[in-house]
Amino acid sequence: MESFQGFIIFITFVVLLSAYQYKAQSPGSSTIPAKQLDSVLQGYGFSAFVRPHTGVIYDANVPVNLTGIKVSVLRLRSGSLLGRGVHSFKEFDIPVGVWVHPYVERLVFVYQNLGNWSSVYYPLPGFRYLAPVLSLLIYDAANLSATNLPEIDFVASKLPISINFTNVAPVPSGLTPKCVWFNLDGSPEFRELVTDNVCSTYRQGHFSIVVNSTGLAPSPAPSAGPNVGPIPVRHKSHNSTVWKIVGGVLGGFVILVLAAWLLGLLLRYTQKKKVAKMEQHAEVGETLRMARVGNAQAPVAYGTRTQPMLENEYVA
Ligand SMILES: *[C@@H]1O[C@H](CO)[C@@H](O)[C@H](O)[C@H]1NC(C)=O
Ligand SMILES: *[C@@H]1O[C@H](CO)[C@@H](O)[C@H](O)[C@H]1NC(C)=O
Ligand SMILES: *[C@@H]1O[C@H](CO)[C@@H](O)[C@H](O)[C@H]1NC(C)=O
Ligand SMILES: *[C@@H]1O[C@H](CO)[C@@H](O)[C@H](O)[C@H]1NC(C)=O
Ligand SMILES: *[C@@H]1O[C@H](CO)[C@@H](O)[C@H](O)[C@H]1NC(C)=O
Repeated sequence: MESFQGFIIFITFVVLLSAYQYKAQSPGSSTIPAKQLDSVLQGYGFSAFVRPHTGVIYDANVPVNLTGIKVSVLRLRSGSLLGRGVHSFKEFDIPVGVWVHPYVERLVFVYQNLGNWSSVYYPLPGFRYLAPVLSLLIYDAANLSATNLPEIDFVASKLPISINFTNVAPVPSGLTPKCVWFNLDGSPEFRELVTDNVCSTYRQGHFSIVVNSTGLAPSPAPSAGPNVGPIPVRHKSHNSTVWKIVGGVLGGFVILVLAAWLLGLLLRYTQKKKVAKMEQHAEVGETLRMARVGNAQAPVAYGTRTQPMLENEYVA
């Protein structure tokens, strides 16, 4: 049985190792996740408030390793947001009727324009960005030196918020552009455009205009879109994706074979045990089990429902 235990340990090890490798490969290793970028940019955005006035847009400075990203902030009372909206905060036009949840008295809008970093932080394989990713997020304004704040949810209850993209790259012929919306966990949703360069939203998040570039020749002239980042699907990353898939399939196959082998061993082992038991029974015939009754040993027949008791146990 020792080899059997060793085998189980080996299998567990293999499974853990492959799980670990899968985990290590999945996120982009060279850049921080988009969620973390939000909180970093919240900090840089808030630092633009030096003796701030309510209702005034301030542009923030970002560190050199994020050059190309633009961040702006705007502080408001949530009552004013609900009752008056904001007629154009950068590309966003915010109508009346926007509620925040949970309620805060004053809030800060943080605007992000990810510029040439759009496809780095929001990679969309099979799609090409025609405009940079723009973000609209809300935070509590109670402490303007706070960092790592959670976002405050909001919803436009009457009209949607519109996003008027400027400098949209020309649409490749034959393709239909779509609005893409990333919610805070980064998963994309596709919507129709309102007009050629306008998308709309009822909620917070990250927005852009994309085309499905599956089957399109890669790499157009880089001058096509002034603010647009690197083309998401390049030949190299496509190749590495293919290899990842091939590797995943092969790895899965090996694990499947090992699992089948393990199952076979397990079945044979239990079968053997069963046979051994049956043989033992055959030898002894109607085996009597010895059970402890009080301090004495007494034979107990198989299948006996009531256990024998000593009478004096009932004597109170
Ligand atoms: C940018 O550089 C700073 C140090 O100057 C570092 O703390 C930060 O993590 C870097 N940010 C990103 C997004 O790489
Ligand atoms: C974006 O452009 C800036 C210069 O404008 C450059 O420093 C930065 O490395 C670029 N980022 C990417 C991801 O290419
Ligand atoms: C505001 O946030 C900063 C940084 O987290 C903290 O040091 C400070 O104590 C906070 N101030 C108040 C009034 O909560
Ligand atoms: C979008 O902005 C452009 C100029 O920046 C303006 O001409 C156009 O009317 C705007 N469209 C909408 C729907 O706001
Ligand atoms: C992109 O287009 C291809 C065909 O051109 C289609 O198979 C694929 O489903 C499309 N992707 C999405 C997400 O719509």
